[in-house]
Amino acid sequence: MSRFHEPQHPDFRRLNSSIAFDRRLWSQDIAQSRAHAKMLAAREIITTEDRDALLSGLDAVELELREERFPFQEDDEDIHMAIERRLTEIVGPVGGKLHTARSRNDQVVTDLAMYTREQATEAQTAITGLMAVLLQRAEEHVDWPMPGYTHLQRAQPVYLGHHLLAYFWMLQRDRSRFAFAEREAGRLPLGAGALAGVNFDTDRRMMANELGFDEIIPNSIDAVSGRDFVLDYLNAAATCSTHLSRLGAELVLWSSEEFGFCELPDAWSSGSSIMPQKKNPDAAELLRAKAPRVVGHLAALHGVMHALPLTYNKDLQEDKEHLFDAVDTLEATVAAATGMLAGVGFRRERLQEAAADELIAATDVADLLVRLGVPFREAHRVVAGLVRTAPDSDRRLSELTPDELAAHSETLGAHHEELAEVLSRSSWLESKVSEGGTSLARVREQLALARAVLDEPAGS
Ligand code: ARG
Repeated sequence: MSRFHEPQHPDFRRLNSSIAFDRRLWSQDIAQSRAHAKMLAAREIITTEDRDALLSGLDAVELELREERFPFQEDDEDIHMAIERRLTEIVGPVGGKLHTARSRNDQVVTDLAMYTREQATEAQTAITGLMAVLLQRAEEHVDWPMPGYTHLQRAQPVYLGHHLLAYFWMLQRDRSRFAFAEREAGRLPLGAGALAGVNFDTDRRMMANELGFDEIIPNSIDAVSGRDFVLDYLNAAATCSTHLSRLGAELVLWSSEEFGFCELPDAWSSGSSIMPQKKNPDAAELLRAKAPRVVGHLAALHGVMHALPLTYNKDLQEDKEHLFDAVDTLEATVAAATGMLAGVGFRRERLQEAAADELIAATDVADLLVRLGVPFREAHRVVAGLVRTAPDSDRRLSELTPDELAAHSETLGAHHEELAEVLSRSSWLESKVSEGGTSLARVREQLALARAVLDEPAGS
């Protein structure tokens, strides 16, 4: 008997069904059901014979799913119903006992917490791999000068190792955000029932232990309503993707003939169907373009959760596709970033040439004046005049005569030898001695720190 007089409209079924995407949760659902059945028997809510029948039935269903021969049916609404239907087909009416003291509401959020937790762990592992490659490439290029940019204008020279390490630290923070998401997904919702708890004295802590959760969610209403652990994962994924988009953008620029700073590995580039000379940085471009998609998933789930009355509403079914696509996108983009960085070849002469532009040492000249007692604002004005005068007469700063220098600043005229020293290339880089700066000693210090951070557990 059913309380309905007519079957579901096919269009409603299409809208309502989640089996097409939530079948991804099958292994979590089976694991959860095993823990639930064991707990029911331990609490004498079902007999040990019932438990054993359920467990062996679950084994059979698991095998069918694993071997991709599970007989899905037209009217399986979601993976939870499909598994229970099949279990009952295999073990008979005892299959109907599995759902004792459980609702799909606590069941679905428990599967999702397990999945999110696993994926947050996976993400930390993948990011650690990318950090290791960055660190290795930074070590190899620790003393290769290149221009540092602001506004995409040459600003101050830095070492390539220093620039690469900037990404290392961004990813280290991303890794911490995933560790946070992992912890947040580590509280068990199961046992909340539909929303109010269940009419049996269940043992939620036993299920938590069995399934590897750290704690249980103490409020049944919160347990079935909450999805903020998914938001935490998506937040980590969105920020990480945005970081990768900046890396992608730089690789696109740097591999262009205009910059000529690097050559991307063939394995991560495409050819053009019409222009035989071209090697396109498609993977790097996709690092740029995938980020807003992940950010979109975060914004979309915030939209689903916004002003949603407690407790479970079907709206919450919309958590899954956003999460799943973010997981897939992140996995693909972290792999691409890792592959590209491992194989990219940097071009030392081109980097060096671009960093050898004397105008890039303007800040250092200003600081020389400061050290000679000139107030910084005044020094800035003097150097601005110099960088106008030199190119006007087609000369470099180091080619200005002591008299010309004196015309801009008495102090500078009197100290033209020190100016020459400042303009000799390595001193521009080696003058950045502050902690975290680009001088070689500081970058080496940073490399050692990065090495230590890489080897520590991600959650710390
Ligand atoms: N497929 C549903 C979801 O993903 C499962 C929960 C359904 N619960 C319910 N009371 N209709 O959210």
